[in-house]
Amino acid sequence: MPHTDTPFFDLDICHWSADGTALEILDQTLLPLEERFVQLHSAADVAEAIAKLRVRGAPAIGIAAAMGLCVAVAQGEDFASALHTIGQARPTAVNLSWALRRMERRWRSSDDGLRLDALRREAEAIKAEDRASCEAIGNLGASLIKEGMGVLTHCNAGHLATGGLGTALAPLYVAHREGRHFKVYADETRPLLQGARLTAYELHRSGLDVTLACDNMAAWLLSSGRVQVIFVGCDRVAANGDVANKVGTYGLAVLAHHFGVPFYVCGPLSSFDRRCATGADITIEHRSADEVRSLWYARPMAPDCPVVNPAFDVTDHRLVTGYITERGLLTADALPTILQNEN
Ligand code: MRU
Repeated sequence: MPHTDTPFFDLDICHWSADGTALEILDQTLLPLEERFVQLHSAADVAEAIAKLRVRGAPAIGIAAAMGLCVAVAQGEDFASALHTIGQARPTAVNLSWALRRMERRWRSSDDGLRLDALRREAEAIKAEDRASCEAIGNLGASLIKEGMGVLTHCNAGHLATGGLGTALAPLYVAHREGRHFKVYADETRPLLQGARLTAYELHRSGLDVTLACDNMAAWLLSSGRVQVIFVGCDRVAANGDVANKVGTYGLAVLAHHFGVPFYVCGPLSSFDRRCATGADITIEHRSADEVRSLWYARPMAPDCPVVNPAFDVTDHRLVTGYITERGLLTADALPTILQNEN
């Protein structure tokens, strides 16, 4: 891991360049070996960065999309085509279309000469609101973490995935800040190893007690009594509470049910989609076979073997103990009412 004196939360993973002409993102494909920012100058750059997971995690995707759209428009790109290019980058995380809808409304409601400024303010607001949501999720979720507990998480729903503390990791950061001692187990999260490369990295760099486990060790962890609570993030929650999140989440929820371990889904309301009635309406991204046939682009395995590579799965709402949001701890029954006034 790189040695750096920069406190982790001071790393602003997505910001405008000093001269305001580019978007700078921390390239997450290089972690944990290197903390390097790359510049994005166009809608095509932003779409590529999202599709390749240089910037990833539902809220961070929405933030990068909104800020990237400003850069594209400032460079003279046509608003509608930039919107379309960025909007096609990935299908599952609803924060992408949610953020772009907000940007489009702002564009339409602003006068000609003031549009770019209005877009920039809207993008900054999206980022600031997400930061505040993370803090609220962290404060609420932290109350569920008791001294000496074992906590399991999957994929990366931390600082690297949001504008703030994270969603599933926010309760852990707050409980740690409050002085509680507990052990975190991070699933490695094949095929792209977000748990191993990103979650273990950011928790370790922030001084939390984190232990890495292979995905197929979860049943053993739960059966051995090491895990008392599970926190995961979400890419899109349907109106009935079904949850699309990183593939493997559903399996964890089934295990949690079997072993009687509480299973919490953490996310801002921008990750909830009242337009999807159930999980069956959520588009699941399928990614390249090479991601499965290799181990993070190294050591190709069984080169000709057919591969299935859904990036996400859908967890049945009946397996979710509760949804930790900026509006409180919600149950699936409450969601339709809460979401009816959301965009
Ligand atoms: O493919 P990724 O790395 O973008 O998947 C990320 C997840 O599944 C996260 O759990 C989810 O986006 C929530 S991030 C706060």
